Amino acid sequence: MGIASLLVLAACGSNQGNGKATTDTTASPAEHQMTDTGSASANAGTEHTTYPGYGIMLQQDCKTCHTPDKISTGPSFMMIAARYDSTKAGTVEHLAEKVISGGKGSFGDVPMTPHPSLSKADAEELVKYILSYKN
Ligand code: HEC
Repeated sequence: MGIASLLVLAACGSNQGNGKATTDTTASPAEHQMTDTGSASANAGTEHTTYPGYGIMLQQDCKTCHTPDKISTGPSFMMIAARYDSTKAGTVEHLAEKVISGGKGSFGDVPMTPHPSLSKADAEELVKYILSYKN
């Protein structure tokens, strides 16, 4: 990936569209803050934002602790994607359950907060979006 796209992604990552109230997963102005640079995405040829999980994430607090490419309170999406294989049976389900129940130990001692209001289906879509950051 280009250095420039890394920097722009990082800059945009701290300024995403919090408080967006709609539930559609289609592009909106808020999303564009994160995605206008996406053509030079980390994952050559894959538009991460086409994943339904991207739209779900905009309604959630994930971005307060995760960014696509920088360690924040939590690991970056690229780190998570590098560790797990989304094509392996049970992986998406396992991670979805972890998002719902929270916990620590995979990347260190900092725990992820639980997200009990997330449905399993939504959590799985979120995980598929995150795992799309595989290089
Ligand atoms: C309060 C901060 C925080 C929030 C909010 C948060 N996470 Fe996390 N997340 C973490 C931390 C810290 C870890 C590393 C946990 C560990 O080491 O097991 C993590 C790990 C993960 C993992 C990898 C789990 C594993 O076992 O490898 C996934 C997937 C994930 N988060 C997705 C999400 C999604 C999706 C959301 C939004 C619904 C979210 N996170 C919200 C802090 C957070």
